[in-house]
Amino acid sequence: MPLVSMRQVLDEAAKGGYGVGAFNVNNMEQIQAIFEAARETKSPVIVQASRGARSYTNDRFLYHLMIAATEVYPEIPVVLHQDHGNGPATCKSAIDMGFTSVMMDGSLMEDGKTPASFEYNVKVTREVVEMAHDRGVTVEGELGCLGGIEDGHGADVDALAHLTDPDQAVEFVERTGIDALAVAIGTSHGAYKFSKKPTGEVLVMERIEQIHKNLPSTHLVMHGSSSVPQDLQDVINKYGGKMKQTYGVPVEEIQRGIKHGVRKINVDTDNRMAMTGAIRKILTEHPDAFDPRDYMKPAREAMKQLVKQRMIEFGQAGHAGDYEPIPLAEMARRYKESLVTA
Ligand code: G3H
Ligand code: 13P
Ligand code: ZN
Repeated sequence: MPLVSMRQVLDEAAKGGYGVGAFNVNNMEQIQAIFEAARETKSPVIVQASRGARSYTNDRFLYHLMIAATEVYPEIPVVLHQDHGNGPATCKSAIDMGFTSVMMDGSLMEDGKTPASFEYNVKVTREVVEMAHDRGVTVEGELGCLGGIEDGHGADVDALAHLTDPDQAVEFVERTGIDALAVAIGTSHGAYKFSKKPTGEVLVMERIEQIHKNLPSTHLVMHGSSSVPQDLQDVINKYGGKMKQTYGVPVEEIQRGIKHGVRKINVDTDNRMAMTGAIRKILTEHPDAFDPRDYMKPAREAMKQLVKQRMIEFGQAGHAGDYEPIPLAEMARRYKESLVTA
């Protein structure tokens, strides 16, 4: 199956009332882990690459690995998505390379750190929507800022001071014409999100309900949605790691979001931890090992299990065969004739 637009995958998810995990990748093993999990659970897939991932893989390697995946797993509908595009040029280069979806993160300036003004956000996001829709490619925008600066994404600000404003969200979607809206509800990227199990004071799920009431047909996106499982923290620390005790976003809160319009759930950190735990364990138990396959294989397997679990929890399992891909040229025609709207 060719790469499909994210709009189609999210429209289908909305019809079925489920969410779709968007998993970050940087190498072959991570791509294989996601596709094996998708095959076993019959799930549609969103694979996303940050600017860091594109630079790490020198772009062409990443692209051809994804094409290989569509050949090896022809039954899986798959979206290739640019995560946190920092400007129209990044989004354009992704589209030129064959990405079928881009995020224009105009909530921050081009440095990926400084909170941007609403007008700047509208301007750059609208520019990307025009360019992308012309080619049938999906656009995700973001309003409000995530907390923390871990991973180099996010303003180093108090997350609670930059939550998405539900009324401004309506104006943002109307003026930009985006397909999906990333919301800020108190989460941040990376492992260190909360110092105790989050309550509604710090993980403001109510915001999602308000935004969804205002924008019932807009697909919502939750960033920073790793759950940072205790068992993965424990494995890493048992085998020589030094992670401080931390708490992520509980899966039941994500499931609550899915009931209120969340269709895309971004997960990277949990997969990093699953792989790291497996590698630490193998190398500790077998200090004589030096063939990379000895530790990459269990790392890939650990990530596969995590992704599989999330696919089941988010509800996308069982939905891979629900639809035929709509070619990007046809998506472009539909945007042009306003048959697809925000
Ligand atoms: O948005 C953050 C993702 O976890 C990607 O992180 O820029 O280190 O690849 P990265
Ligand atoms: P985590 O760091 O919680 O996995 O979030 C990833 C993310 O939002 C990528 O855009
Ligand atoms: Zn993110």
